[in-house]
Amino acid sequence: MSKREDKPAIDGRDEFYHFILDFASDAIIPVDISGKIIYWNRAAEKIFGYTALEMIGQPVKKILPTGFKIDTEKAHFGRHFETVGIRKDGGEIQLECSYSIWDTKQGTFLTIVARDITERKKLQKELEKTTNWLRAILENANEGIIVTDEYDNITFSNNAFGEIVGYKRNELLGLNFATLLDQDGRKKVSKEIALRMKGKTNRYTLPIYRKTGEMRIIQVSASPLLDENGKYSGSIAVISDITELEQMRQKLQEYSQKLEILVEKRTKQLKDAQEQLLKSQRLAAIGELAGMVAHDLRNPLMGMAGAVYYLKTKSASKLDDTEKRMLKIIEDNIAYANKIVSDLQEYSKEMRLELKETSVKTLLRESLSSVRIPDKIKVIDKTVGSHKIEVDVAKMKRVFTNIIKNAVDAMPEGGKLEIKSRKKQACMEIIFKDTGIGIPEDILAKIGKPLITTKAKGMGFGLAICNRIMEAHKGKLSIQSEVGKGTTVKLTFPIMKKEEKVKFLTVEAKSVTPER
Ligand SMILES: Nc1ncnc2c1ncn2[C@@H]1O[C@H](COP(=O)(O)OP(=O)(O)OP(=O)(O)O)[C@@H](O)[C@H]1O
Ligand SMILES: [Mg+2]
Repeated sequence: MSKREDKPAIDGRDEFYHFILDFASDAIIPVDISGKIIYWNRAAEKIFGYTALEMIGQPVKKILPTGFKIDTEKAHFGRHFETVGIRKDGGEIQLECSYSIWDTKQGTFLTIVARDITERKKLQKELEKTTNWLRAILENANEGIIVTDEYDNITFSNNAFGEIVGYKRNELLGLNFATLLDQDGRKKVSKEIALRMKGKTNRYTLPIYRKTGEMRIIQVSASPLLDENGKYSGSIAVISDITELEQMRQKLQEYSQKLEILVEKRTKQLKDAQEQLLKSQRLAAIGELAGMVAHDLRNPLMGMAGAVYYLKTKSASKLDDTEKRMLKIIEDNIAYANKIVSDLQEYSKEMRLELKETSVKTLLRESLSSVRIPDKIKVIDKTVGSHKIEVDVAKMKRVFTNIIKNAVDAMPEGGKLEIKSRKKQACMEIIFKDTGIGIPEDILAKIGKPLITTKAKGMGFGLAICNRIMEAHKGKLSIQSEVGKGTTVKLTFPIMKKEEKVKFLTVEAKSVTPER
């Protein structure tokens, strides 16, 4: 590189110095003690836009208008300052300057080294702006945000996290996250950190304890932070307080469970009601049919009964024994046919109760008198004289006679029928216990439904009618039996309080009034 013609040599220095000065990337501007520029290198040309010719001999204030205070007390190097420079085109540039003072025989000189930092400043400002943005986002986020180091100590916390746990931010800094948890929470967090160390981001919920000891449920979304070598150096976590949400979720779950139970219950009620409806529809159909059959059969039966009576009374002397036996058979069968017709009607027609208070003992005596009890069967009445029930007497007698007849039928070889009454809690129980043949299990399961019979001359309506009558009295009939040992039939009546009785009777009265 040749020496440039437009630059005067500084005090006769050699080319070597020019070479160095020209190739420096910073502007190097030596000035004399009055502030006049005495040298102008290439970088100065580039930074300020002036040529050396234009600037040498000019005051340095032209390019550094704000000036600077020179400490000439003692010669030293490397004083740094930032200032604004003015370019030839009038534009401002940010400069980072340093100066050094040197004394020569010719006097004191000052060398200013200026670096254009406009671009760096711009970048710095932008970085600052972005940093401020990020800080504002972190600080004002609704969610708690914390940063922890590799040992899980909190190194940053925003306000929201402080509010979740009820600590001031400076109290949180340096605090180990685990101190805010219980034992289970600590175990959980250790497992999650182990996953983060493998580079995984995770989300989980756990209980956390406020400074006051109050427990809150938080949801954590955490990511690992890695250092420049890719090693785990901590985590950043976004934390939301989901206590209320969790409570609501639990309530919702409870409600839906309750709802399910309710739906199940209502479905069952609906099904029962449907079955009841079907049953009553079937009953209505049977009732209608029974009514017709009864109407059609009763008259011929009456006619037959009249004819038999006539033959028995008017022609009694002319009849031999066989003919008398035949007439008896006709008479019995007419009675049997009549029973079938009444049973059918009884089972199917709507039940209307005429309640009357009566003693269990009286009811039993009257029922027993209408049943023919063979000599080989012993009936023991153990009912309590003072026990009273409020029932439809005629209907309850039917129940008693049906049960007694069944017991008699079950003891062809003779046996014992014991009847007792007892009060149990809010109920009156009447128990018929026989020593008959008993009921096999398969029959026992079906018993009480119409047309279930094991008898040649049975209709299988007896217990079905008993059940209906007991149901109408809000009572219950239950059977226990053991084949070869005997059968126990238990009637249970609720002992009603006065107000219940009124309700019961009102309902009863309603149910017998056909709806229009
Ligand atoms: N005390 C009892 N011991 C043994 N079996 C019984 C007894 N009571 C009822 N049973 C059985 O239950 C069946 C049904 O009895 P239910 O009284 O309903 O009808 P039934 O006696 O057969 O005929 P109906 O009473 O209509 O004349 C009987 O056929 C019998 O097999
Ligand atoms: Mg019977």
